[in-house]
Amino acid sequence: MSADEPIPLARPVLGAAEEDRVLEVLRSGHLSLGPRLAQFEEAFAERVGVPYASAVSSGTAGLHLALRAVGVSDGAEVITSPFSFVASANVALYERARPVFADIDPVTLNISPDAAAAAVTERTAAILPVHVFGYPADIPALERLGLPIVEDACEALGALHPDGTPVGAGGARPAVFGFYPNKQLTTGEGGMVTTADPALKERLDSERNQGRAPDMDWLDHDRLGFNYRLSDVACALGLAQLGHLDAMLEGRARVAAWYGEALAGIEGLELPCPDTGGARRGWFVYVVQLPHRMDRDQTVRTLAERGVPSKPYFPAIHLMSFYRRRFGHREGEFPVCEDVAARSIALPFFPELSEGQVARVAQTLAEVVAQARAGTGP
Ligand SMILES: Cc1ncc(COP(=O)(O)O)c(C=O)c1O
Repeated sequence: MSADEPIPLARPVLGAAEEDRVLEVLRSGHLSLGPRLAQFEEAFAERVGVPYASAVSSGTAGLHLALRAVGVSDGAEVITSPFSFVASANVALYERARPVFADIDPVTLNISPDAAAAAVTERTAAILPVHVFGYPADIPALERLGLPIVEDACEALGALHPDGTPVGAGGARPAVFGFYPNKQLTTGEGGMVTTADPALKERLDSERNQGRAPDMDWLDHDRLGFNYRLSDVACALGLAQLGHLDAMLEGRARVAAWYGEALAGIEGLELPCPDTGGARRGWFVYVVQLPHRMDRDQTVRTLAERGVPSKPYFPAIHLMSFYRRRFGHREGEFPVCEDVAARSIALPFFPELSEGQVARVAQTLAEVVAQARAGTGP
């Protein structure tokens, strides 16, 4: 990409390896439930360091199946973060359970274990922490609450917990990854659920495939299932991407380090928290919080006019119109989340971003912030 080409917000790394793998599948004619499914699952499980992985059609599908598998059903409550992509709350509703939000930690932006503890009731069936922006949530503290946990690791491939365990290798506890094109690894659409529990793996495999047991004839089904399968074409893409995952993760970490240096001097701008206590972020997006009192939406427009795409990321889930209408949520319920959400923007971020492009983004943002301070900008 040349220095003055428009900078995209995100861009997957796709090359000859992906083309070859996908073409092989097309030529084989085996487009679904073929050999690439098990190959991708096994390679992914090995990479994360967990015995089993089940490929599904999206991160959302994986979260839905994982919640069912830990026992979430009608009338139950699922404690989760209001600072996430909407799917992590919606999946509870798919099972006619209620997402109960708990405020976030102002530093990691992940669910606060104290707030989660305060939200527990006799109806709480599970906790669904999100490793937001790839930074590991405090799972040990949440485990002390003694409830089933489903980890939303959709943004956290490559992340490590403080004890060095990779996110997704948490024993029987399911963790769900997402492979949408903005993710560390992409299959276009897709997801993966990891676990060390063979019974859970069997249930996930059956429910993603219309409730069919592995040894059953095609038209016999012994439980309710869904079509949450991942095609062999997508699995082939995933296998090719796994082959250069380290380079893609390193590329993201390099770009993040450039941003860290280039943005460090901007007064009032808050950067992603550094890794602490042995935890490691799996870099997914580069999200900054604008100084207080800056108009976030106007800033996004001004940056766009100057050739820098950005987007509000994330808006608070409980303040989305559907959640307000359905549950009567209002401003003020989760003050930390609301403050962070009102000021957060995602900057262009992908492994092939050059140092010069990062400098251009940083310089533009610095100018816009300075103008805001001087009262001549957003
Ligand atoms: C935190 C989080 N949860 C869930 C999802 C849903 O994943 P998918 O888009 O693959 O359904 C995403 C992805 O966008 C995500 O970022």
